Amino acid sequence: MHALITGGAGFIGSHLTEYLLTAGHEVVVLDNLATGSMENLSPIYDHSHFRYVPGSVLDEALVDTLASQVDTIFHLAAAVGSFVIRDRTLQSLRTNIHGTENVLTAAHRHHARVLIASSSEVYGKNTKIGLREDDDRVVGSPLLHRWSYSEAKAVDESLTHAYVTELGLQAVIVRLFNTVGPRQTGRYGMVIPRFVAQALTGQPLTIFGTGAQIRCFCHVHDVVPALLALVEHQGAYGTAINLGSCEQVSIAGLALRVLALTHSASDIIHLSYEEGIGPGYEDLQRRVPDCTRAREMIGFRPLRTLDDILRSVIAEQSRPGLTPTVMP
Ligand SMILES: NC(=O)c1ccc[n+]([C@@H]2O[C@H](COP(=O)([O-])OP(=O)(O)OC[C@H]3O[C@@H](n4cnc5c(N)ncnc54)[C@H](O)[C@@H]3O)[C@@H](O)[C@H]2O)c1
Repeated sequence: MHALITGGAGFIGSHLTEYLLTAGHEVVVLDNLATGSMENLSPIYDHSHFRYVPGSVLDEALVDTLASQVDTIFHLAAAVGSFVIRDRTLQSLRTNIHGTENVLTAAHRHHARVLIASSSEVYGKNTKIGLREDDDRVVGSPLLHRWSYSEAKAVDESLTHAYVTELGLQAVIVRLFNTVGPRQTGRYGMVIPRFVAQALTGQPLTIFGTGAQIRCFCHVHDVVPALLALVEHQGAYGTAINLGSCEQVSIAGLALRVLALTHSASDIIHLSYEEGIGPGYEDLQRRVPDCTRAREMIGFRPLRTLDDILRSVIAEQSRPGLTPTVMP
């Protein structure tokens, strides 16, 4: 496989890059380092089958050139994280809509197959336990920046579906639920690296809202092999597929587990969403996937537990010489 990974210097993209290189594939990464980093690529930077191209998915000509050199595209580049969406809403919309359209157009022109990284955010406030791919979207006003990420990912899905059904593109949409593990940064609002950094530096763990919100966290090492399996699975083209864990935890419960596993004496404090993220933020009370479709198609079954995940993030942030970063 000759693969292009957009956003390959990011958290999930860099793990996918390593995984593909280990499996013997050639990988080109396109990334503008908006939230990714060269450090994420340092383990494979000198690999003979690897090439890094600095640049943006908004550069139509560059995306077209790179697409002409590969047979498979993993489109992971996106503006991600509630702080990023809050602070740069317009740029985030442009990246997440026009960037995806550039990738789809180029893939179609050069007959490359594509995986589009979408998000459980498309389900919005739907609190059903076990969200299935054909469940309804329940979203708030498009005038709240909070929903713009969900809207953009939904537009990406509609664009992808139309490219498949009308133009014959070979493309699969993957709806990632909370994906976590080493290299994810807490700088842009992600809860696990933020709690771990707070616990390790003796700062209070800051819960936004009541802490009763339910989430399921899946280790990136369980997700990455499924991305490769799905892009190679013809039966997946034209559909959306959930990928995530079903192990539920409340955010308050998560904070307690982080304190126990880090042996930290940090306090836990609650902030309102307004104090923590800013005005206009609405949280989701529960987000639990049903991954039957992924299980039936590719045998998807996450192996790592929440404690495995927390231990791997704690080990990464406890490395000698590293100071955990909580926020910018
Ligand atoms: N981590 C999760 O829990 C999660 C959940 C749902 C969906 N996703 C999706 O998975 C993908 C990867 O997310 P991640 O968690 O690794 O986040 P990340 O921020 O680490 O990765 C995104 C990457 O895209 C790059 N990027 C941003 N704008 C770009 C542009 N214009 N051109 C080129 N590169 C650009 C960033 O520099 C970064 O390396 C995203 O599409 C995201 O929406 C992630």
